[in-house]
Amino acid sequence: MISTVSNMFNYGVAPKPFLKWAGGKTQLIKQISKFLPLGLNNGSIKKYVEPFIGGGALFFWIASNYPVKELFISDINVDLVLAYKTIQCDIDDLMKLLLDIENKYLSLNNHQRAEYFYQVRNDFNQQRNQMNLIDYNSDWVERTAQMIFLNKTCFNGLFRVNSKGEFNVPVGKYKKPSICNQQTLKTVNKILQRTEIIQGDFSKCEIFIDENTLVYFDPPYRPISNTSNFTAYSHQIFDDSEQLRLHNYFQKLDKKGALLMLSNSDPKNYNIEDDFFEQLYNGYRIERVKASRSINSNSAKRNPINELLIMNY
Ligand SMILES: C[S@@+](CC[C@H](N)C(=O)[O-])C[C@H]1O[C@@H](n2cnc3c(N)ncnc32)[C@H](O)[C@@H]1O
Repeated sequence: MISTVSNMFNYGVAPKPFLKWAGGKTQLIKQISKFLPLGLNNGSIKKYVEPFIGGGALFFWIASNYPVKELFISDINVDLVLAYKTIQCDIDDLMKLLLDIENKYLSLNNHQRAEYFYQVRNDFNQQRNQMNLIDYNSDWVERTAQMIFLNKTCFNGLFRVNSKGEFNVPVGKYKKPSICNQQTLKTVNKILQRTEIIQGDFSKCEIFIDENTLVYFDPPYRPISNTSNFTAYSHQIFDDSEQLRLHNYFQKLDKKGALLMLSNSDPKNYNIEDDFFEQLYNGYRIERVKASRSINSNSAKRNPINELLIMNY
């Protein structure tokens, strides 16, 4: 267990995710940080890798609290990675556009806001097939602004897509959403100056990993049952065969000498006899932390549930 130097890189404000993301770890950081390896403090860990970056709550925490020299993040979601790269490369144009959007949106009445939201959502989905989403270009600033706007103003503030990869969350009812959080964006931009950002499958991070690396895996949660809904961050499904593939990869990196930590929901929240992760990660350290997320739709009966932390150290 280790203590941290709060915001040691003096970013002005503590860095935090610029998007709200399903499965985001902001609420769990305090608990997770108790299980981070000592090498983060004494400098023996030189690289930090997060291959399922999502909103990046733990990434921003580690990047601003520990002296890690090299940072690497990736995700399979094309639009998410595009947004990270835009903030890395073109923060001024992005903030200017977001401020214009914020001023316009806040001046509208509820009916006009809904109209504006669906117009942006439509543009965002149509442009998906018309623009180059792989090589950095100036169109990315508008797309990232649209994505941040949709995330900040949609119902529940999440990013969810349908089977065609189209963003499909309805408009939300926030009175005064902060669409352009300049301090957060500037801080994120600073951290991303020393970060390599890759789009693609988690297995792409291997070339970056050696025995001085800490890797944190936060894959999509294992669905409660084969028929239950999964959280659609992208139109690819992360089923049990994917959990097995990730486990094989975990073992491979373990042999390389990297320090590894992996999160998932605890199947025992739903079925005490479900040993899926105990069996899969037999021999590794498994701890449970409490999440405020609930499994009961009746809010009166909501209790905290467990999440798993699996480590090879
Ligand atoms: C639980 S979320 C990560 C949440 C993140 N830790 C946070 O704090 O916001 C899982 C992420 O994995 C990504 N993902 C799903 N399948 C993937 C794959 N095969 N390779 C890489 N990323 C993947 C999703 O797009 C999503 O962003």
